[in-house]
Amino acid sequence: MALADYIYNKPIIETERLILRPMTSSDVPALNEWMPDKSIYTYWGKGPSKSEKNPELMFEKESKPTKSFHLGIAEKGNNKVIGDIWIYLIEHDRMAQVAVRLSKFVHGQGYGTESLSAITRFCFENTELKRLWTEVDVRNSASCKILEKCGYVKEGMIRQGRMVNTWCDYYIYGILSSDYNHGE
Ligand SMILES: CC(C)(COP(=O)(O)OP(=O)(O)OC[C@H]1O[C@@H](n2cnc3c(N)ncnc32)[C@H](O)[C@@H]1OP(=O)(O)O)[C@@H](O)C(=O)NCCC(=O)NCCS
Repeated sequence: MALADYIYNKPIIETERLILRPMTSSDVPALNEWMPDKSIYTYWGKGPSKSEKNPELMFEKESKPTKSFHLGIAEKGNNKVIGDIWIYLIEHDRMAQVAVRLSKFVHGQGYGTESLSAITRFCFENTELKRLWTEVDVRNSASCKILEKCGYVKEGMIRQGRMVNTWCDYYIYGILSSDYNHGE
């Protein structure tokens, strides 16, 4: 498989406790419970957008065909979406950025690690991506922790740089498919 195979059919990725899957308008009640919550945007680089404040808007227009993934993170037992995860800003089918966030009601249960680890594995096993990376505000300890647990390497720190729409000290974390295979 390659990124091009997922343009119209996004993957469904199963872990022990979670299903990472495309979202539909039937997920709006679940999204309303956490997506507008300002506390998850503290280190996100920007506050909630119009559609994050009102998730119904996310499903008004058909999404454009793209190689990027934006998947909901659902609990297996009840299929309720409690977070979301992205593979985006794909460059030359070789490098992409990753981002994850979860409802504050489920923080600290290992779901962040479980989702990030699953999407990382998926990308290296099922696409041609060679590098995944992200920017993390140095104060975002939970995020640093999950990245490190999933094998991402802290590659450096940018001092007072622009992270999305904020200016802060932030780390660059990255993982290569070769790091990943060596870790097996
Ligand atoms: C980052 C995020 C996805 C982590 O999800 P999670 O499910 O709580 O993560 P996990 O439970 O898998 O692991 C969190 C780890 O961070 C640790 N942690 C949590 N808060 C911490 C803090 N303030 N200081 C230090 N460590 C912290 C936990 O103890 C845990 O480590 P452990 O397993 O060794 O005990 C979640 O905090 C989140 O959604 N944050 C808001 C959005 C965000 O900032 N996303 C990242 C953008 S790059």
